[in-house]
Parts: sequence; structure tokens; C-alpha cells
Amino acid sequence: MATVAPSETEQRIVLPEFRLEGKTALVTGGSRGIGKAIALALAARGADVGITCLTGCKFAEDVRGQIRGMGRKSEYFSHDVGDAAEIVKLAKEVGEQIGDVDILVNNAGITRDRSFKKMTQEMWDAVIAVNLTGVFAVTKQFIDGMADRGWGRVINISSIVGEVGNFGQANYAAAKAGLIGFTKTLAREYARKGVTVNAIAPGFIRTRMLQEMPEKAIEAVVNMTPVGRLGEPTEIAAGVAFLASPAASYITGHVLDINGGMAMGG
Ligand SMILES: NC(=O)c1ccc[n+]([C@@H]2O[C@H](COP(=O)([O-])OP(=O)(O)OC[C@H]3O[C@@H](n4cnc5c(N)ncnc54)[C@H](OP(=O)(O)O)[C@@H]3O)[C@@H](O)[C@H]2O)c1
Repeated sequence: MATVAPSETEQRIVLPEFRLEGKTALVTGGSRGIGKAIALALAARGADVGITCLTGCKFAEDVRGQIRGMGRKSEYFSHDVGDAAEIVKLAKEVGEQIGDVDILVNNAGITRDRSFKKMTQEMWDAVIAVNLTGVFAVTKQFIDGMADRGWGRVINISSIVGEVGNFGQANYAAAKAGLIGFTKTLAREYARKGVTVNAIAPGFIRTRMLQEMPEKAIEAVVNMTPVGRLGEPTEIAAGVAFLASPAASYITGHVLDINGGMAMGG
């Protein structure tokens, strides 16, 4: 499950309209998994990148090192996205240490899976607090600055589960579906201010999040996926890097499915 940093050749061949020089990005949950791959992909295209972490800040330190190794500015911030008071502090620290955020990637997320019959209020509250209310709180801190400066990108990491549901994930599906409505609404509100707001709905991606899934369930997922395998974090990062780029300036309110064909939108 290692995320490989993009090679120097890969960094050189990206066309100008896909490059992010002079932009500053913030990726929540950039310490590992999909968020780490996103942070590295944005840096490889030229952005300075801040990341947030909670329990995995030692991994975030490594990501910061890799980004600095590419010649970009980077810092990591230890913050709980589910705690609104901490988010105000986060925004202040980000502003002081990496500057104005042009690209916000709301990636941090958790699961607390159980069939609805056994799902507790705590499990519901925890997932909604991080995966939905956390996105509201973080976006609130940064999007108006983007609008004032006339350019910005907000990219929310939703899930295929928010589109089609999944046994044992009522809380997670509700939060991820909520993100889609949130994305489309902000897209409308900020479109004339130079800020695009999009979502990505990954299928099943090889990260720590999947480690809790029984082997049999993984096998079933692979069997249901036309490309016949799980996705890699870098495959989600590629979509984020595109949506963040100047090339994607006419795309807003879109939900990009990256799921190996597992569910095909109408
Ligand atoms: N893997 C999949 O199959 C899949 C599919 C669809 C969507 N997604 C979504 O993709 C995103 C990334 O998931 P992943 O698979 O990469 O999972 P992961 O490997 O478990 O990583 C989750 C990231 O979120 C951070 N995080 C969790 N709770 C946080 C909190 N309260 N405050 C701040 N950061 C927090 C973690 O930080 P620390 O490690 O520092 O604690 C970590 O960096 C999530 O939104 C997830 O729902 C994943």
C-alpha cells in the first residue's frame, strides 16, 4: 500500500494547462492513503501543499519531506477535522505557514460500520461530524478567500457508497451523499467568483480503510468491478490534480466517478 512519489520525468511532462505552479493547496487527511497520493500529485504538478493529520502525523512528516524534496513548500498541521473550534485555529496556522489556500481538498474521512439495526447514535455522530460537518467547517474557512482573490478550487472526496448505498454504512453513505448536495450547491453559489467546486466518488481503493473489510467482501467487490481489481490511491489523485488545474476551469458541480466501472452514472 505504499504510495510512490511521482518521478522527475513524470513531473516534467505535465502540460502547462495542467500545472499548478504558484498555487497553494491544502489536503485534509494527507498523512496516508488517498490524501497522501493527492498531496504528492499536486506537488508534482507544481503546487505548494499543506496537509492535515490526526493520529498519523509521523507519516505526515514523511509526506512533507517528499514534497519539500520536489522543491515545493510544505507543512503538516495536526488537527481534528471533526472539531469546529480546532478548524479556526487550523486556518490561522495554514495562513501563517503556507499562505492563502487556492486549492482545498476535503479528503479526511472515517468509517464506523455496522448494520443499521446495530448502529449506535455515537457511530452516526462520529461519521457525520468528520465526513460532513468537518467539510462544512473547513470549507467555511477557505472558500471566501478564494472568491475574494477570484480563483479557487474545492474538491470533496465523496464515495460510490454515497451514490448507491452499502450494507452496514448508513452513516457513511448519508455523509458522502450529503457531500454531493453540498458540492453542487457551493458550485452554484461560487461559480461567478472564479471558484469551482467538484466531488470525486471513488470506488474501492487499496488503503487502510479497506483493511477492515473481510477478504470475502473484497473478493466480491473485485468480482463486481468491470476492470477486475481494486483502485489505487494514485488513480484518485490523478482526478483531483485534473480538477484542480486551470484546464478544468469550466467544470463545476461535477461528481467524477473513479471506480473501475463498478457504477456508471446516467
Ligand atoms: N479507500 C476507499 O476505498 C475509499 C472509497 C471511497 C471514498 N474514500 C474516501 O477517501 C478519503 C480518504 O480515505 P482513505 O481510504 O485514504 O483512508 P485512510 O487511509 O484511513 O486515511 C484517512 C485520512 O483521514 C484522516 N483523518 C481521519 N479522521 C480525521 C479527523 N478527525 N481529523 C483529521 N484527519 C482525519 C487520517 O489522518 P491520520 O491518519 O493522521 O489520523 C488519514 O489521513 C475518505 O474521505 C474516504 O471516505 C475512500
